[in-house]
Amino acid sequence: MKPKVLVTRRLLPEVLAYLKEHASVEGGKAAKGLTGKELIHKIRDKEGLLCLLVDRIDRDVIDNAPRLKIIANCAVGFDNIQVDYARKRGILVTNTPGVLTETTADLTWALILATARKIPQSDRFTKKKRFKGWELDLFLGKEVSGKRLGIIGMGRIGQAVALRAQAFRMKVVYFDPRRLSPEEEKTSNTAFLPLDDLLASSDIVSIHASLNPGTFHLLSAEKLRLMKKGAILINVARGPIVDEEALAEALAKRELWGAGLDVYEKEPEVNAKLLRLDNVILLPHIGSGTYETRLRMAMMAARNLIQGLRGERPDNLVS
Ligand code: DGY
Repeated sequence: MKPKVLVTRRLLPEVLAYLKEHASVEGGKAAKGLTGKELIHKIRDKEGLLCLLVDRIDRDVIDNAPRLKIIANCAVGFDNIQVDYARKRGILVTNTPGVLTETTADLTWALILATARKIPQSDRFTKKKRFKGWELDLFLGKEVSGKRLGIIGMGRIGQAVALRAQAFRMKVVYFDPRRLSPEEEKTSNTAFLPLDDLLASSDIVSIHASLNPGTFHLLSAEKLRLMKKGAILINVARGPIVDEEALAEALAKRELWGAGLDVYEKEPEVNAKLLRLDNVILLPHIGSGTYETRLRMAMMAARNLIQGLRGERPDNLVS
């Protein structure tokens, strides 16, 4: 008999087909996710769960899943899952590292350039037929080339962002609790700085850390105040790393020149103050959003799930 699997939301058809070859699958077709109650009800008889980063897999869900062997998250971040508790209950947890690195780094750069050069604002202006001819001071942006980029979180994505910065002849500094080796720093042409020094000296600060108790509100009001006046903040990692109220205030007072955000503190809710500002660009968490990458992520999650159900060690176990 095939093992019973729950898929919380719509998957790409090819991934669903793969899963169905190996498991008896419930879900995977509806765009709208399950409520907490529905999840708790449906998980009871399942051995496998394939979930997305928007599904909260907490103690309550785990306690109601007596047969569950594996939770395969379709995301590299896994702050949506109570991993320690799952581990205590002998349930494997997997994620999807590596396959979204380049795509997320590309989107980071799209946000850096869009924020610095006011691209969405200029587009809206032109479409409203307000372009009446070249003006010396029309939509003046910020230079990017040759400036200093501060990267918070120098994992795979942070390093891919740093690599792209070389084409812009930027000086790249980074902060990460795990420092790169001297060879890695040399190859990536980056230098370590303590967080406060990075914030005080960077023209653009880009966040690529994972969310955990140590990074919650890492960019607090106090830390945001350390940033250079007129700097730009980019966040494609997780919303709660930034105190959104404090950010909205810094942007409203023009202490920061602009921000580009792909993630939010109470996602999918977006802070009302941010929505009213013209110096922030807001994207709907599309950092990894290309067809190719989402297919790789979903396939990786599905393979991890099947490996775990077969009693094999999944390729991408969260340690
Ligand atoms: C992840 O995988 O954690 C990303 O946020 C998805 O884009």
